[in-house]
Amino acid sequence: METLTSEYREILIATARHYLKNSYSPYSNYPVGAAVLAEDGLVYGGTNIENSAYPSGLCAERVAITKAISEGNRKILAVAVVTRNGGAPCGACRQVMREFANLDMPVILTTIDDGFEEEFTLGDLLPRSFGPDDLDRK
Ligand code: THU
Repeated sequence: METLTSEYREILIATARHYLKNSYSPYSNYPVGAAVLAEDGLVYGGTNIENSAYPSGLCAERVAITKAISEGNRKILAVAVVTRNGGAPCGACRQVMREFANLDMPVILTTIDDGFEEEFTLGDLLPRSFGPDDLDRK
């Protein structure tokens, strides 16, 4: 994709920080906020939502992505994630991004305050991945 504008970058990070405040994470005490820019030009936010039956918990990134896809989008263009320590998306979230993004999609990792910011591409985070095209290949 074209490089992410600094405006969208700031909106994504601010949205992820906003959603982190809504985290329901009483079991891990590890709040996560995420935001995705979708092809409709809108930014969708999500937070992690844990459950007393632990495996039923949801990651922030997949909450944000499912919101975007539910609204009719089929492509996401950028993701921002905020945690207290700059933690990266889990493998399952990377795979869900893979379904709806190009491998050059930027993934911005940041912290609650402004100290830390790193940017990767989805391809950096998920090399030699399996995606929709693989189902069509011999
Ligand atoms: N978590 C996310 O929301 N995103 C990730 O990619 C990594 C992990 C959440 C799940 C759980 O609520 C908490 O962080 C600790 O694993």
